Amino acid sequence: MNKINIAIDGPAAAGKSTIAKLVAQHFNMIYVDTGAMYRAITLFYIQENSEDFDELVKKINLEIILKDGQRVNLNGEDVTERIRENDVTEKVSYVASKEPVRTFLVEEQQKLANQKNVVMDGRDVGTTVLPDAELKIYMIASVEERANRRFKDNELRGIKSDIESLKTDIERRDQYDMNREISPLVKAEDAISIDTTGLSIDEVTNKIIELANVKLTK
Ligand code: DC
Repeated sequence: MNKINIAIDGPAAAGKSTIAKLVAQHFNMIYVDTGAMYRAITLFYIQENSEDFDELVKKINLEIILKDGQRVNLNGEDVTERIRENDVTEKVSYVASKEPVRTFLVEEQQKLANQKNVVMDGRDVGTTVLPDAELKIYMIASVEERANRRFKDNELRGIKSDIESLKTDIERRDQYDMNREISPLVKAEDAISIDTTGLSIDEVTNKIIELANVKLTK
């Protein structure tokens, strides 16, 4: 197989991780969820109760285990489920706007992509982490649809939520992520936009697989 990296960016809860996982499975590639890495640092920030982000990234022991889906270890503890809880979700955009945090994580993400072909999802993968990715997707969906999907996701994870607060949280995070100074959420010039509102998981997955196949046969 040719070297191919796929970047999938877009606003919160647009379906990126579900689709990215399926695309990765199809091509036997590695799936990297960069949001989970920002969430893990946010959990550490909460635990340490410190605004010294230079120090936080020096002290953190973050392990990303890319086997049968992604697991995240923070200082030796598996926090994969813990980082989905509300306290982390509320603060993650703030922590992700800090320069030491982004510099540290972008480097970690680039190291992961150097080892294997990856499908990586996030906010700045196509613009900053993997600007040379062979295929870039910018995935969007209406706020209503995204809140409904997050609600169902949470239900499956055993997390209680309500649609209205999910909508407010999604809109707040989009605003924060799009307006921060360092690598804000923006569509890369060479990314292909896919609006997933009203589309099934299979429809979106197949569309990306088709686009990737074109790149692979070039
Ligand atoms: O994909 P997610 O909802 O788990 O991401 C959580 C937050 O992390 C998101 O609101 C912004 C931040 N993030 C980022 O700044 N850059 C990325 N590449 C991925 C996530």
